[in-house]
Amino acid sequence: MKVPMLNLPAQFKNIRAEVLSELHEVFETQYFVLGPRVKKLEEQMAALAGMPHGIGVSSGTDALILSLLAIGVKPGDEVVTTPYSFFATASAIVRVGARPVFADVDEASFNLDVKKAAAAVTSKTKALLPVHLFGLVCDPQAWRDLAARHGVRLIEDACQAVGARRAGFTAGGIGDLSAFSFYPTKNLGGAGDGGMVLARDEELAKLVRMDRVHGGRDRYYHDRVGICGRLDEVQAAVLLVKIKHLSEWNERRRKTAALYNELLKGTPVTTPAAPSDAYHTYHQYVLHAPRRDELREYLRGREIGCDVYYPVPLHLQPCFAFLGCRQGQFPVAERLCAETLALPMSAELTEAEVEAVTGEIRNFYGRAVV
Ligand SMILES: Cc1ncc(COP(=O)(O)O)c(C=O)c1O
Repeated sequence: MKVPMLNLPAQFKNIRAEVLSELHEVFETQYFVLGPRVKKLEEQMAALAGMPHGIGVSSGTDALILSLLAIGVKPGDEVVTTPYSFFATASAIVRVGARPVFADVDEASFNLDVKKAAAAVTSKTKALLPVHLFGLVCDPQAWRDLAARHGVRLIEDACQAVGARRAGFTAGGIGDLSAFSFYPTKNLGGAGDGGMVLARDEELAKLVRMDRVHGGRDRYYHDRVGICGRLDEVQAAVLLVKIKHLSEWNERRRKTAALYNELLKGTPVTTPAAPSDAYHTYHQYVLHAPRRDELREYLRGREIGCDVYYPVPLHLQPCFAFLGCRQGQFPVAERLCAETLALPMSAELTEAEVEAVTGEIRNFYGRAVV
């Protein structure tokens, strides 16, 4: 059975009429950028995470850049982050002229290890930037405590964790600022690029709002050099339809993850950790898999989607060579890059598809159910 990694056409089938009707409205009004729909989405995203301010922006990457600019991160500053994430987590720091300082991740949760991050804080540290990777929220209190202890800002990369929760907090509602991505493959995905910054503080929200339109106080009067980072009404229209389904879709992902966990028992793979205080939303369902590369080829050969997130840890990306990191410096992140494999995951995945995927994994390892 052919099983895609993600089934956006199946998702669209269920919301087609509503999405097309909303898009029709946008085109009738011809109001395309930073309009009423963006404002409504900002309010709904802020409410979801329990934050007072939402600012719609052009992508998750720009949400990170705008957050860093708002807190004044500049050349000479350091930002502590994870080497096991999507590229933009670290590139945003470099884009504003600062230095990403990596610390290793926790093997079970895949998230930045808060104790190792604490050891990486220096007098130059301006912010901490943990990532709620694959939909698992980092320990909220531990990160808030660490930021408070050192008097530095906490920015959450919540790009993979919309609607995820942990210990009384919702992703994006833990730090001073948080960044979301609405890239089409995300749990809440638009029809192109889009993102959101959430801010706790009115002043920081104001700066992000200014900087997304070139740092303009008023049109053509610039106090700051911002970026072109606006969100458009087409994205907001699609996202406002989809956000109504978010909790149901996240719940379905969790059920699918539970079924995978069950059907993979007795195989040599390690299924993803889900701490009891976490509401994991499984942006990706990621295994530790012995003979990972062979398994990937085997599954692909049988038209089962699977992917490696991420094959190269950030500290070993050629463009970050100037940071002077070396192979072996963050052994857990390096091991995860070599050993993990993401399986198909979406709210639309059927039980039969999960059975087909896990059946092929069993065939690959040649093991019987125990
Ligand atoms: C962890 C993480 N950070 C940042 C981003 C950047 O988001 P975008 O692609 O919307 O710029 C992504 C998504 O691609 C991501 O997964």
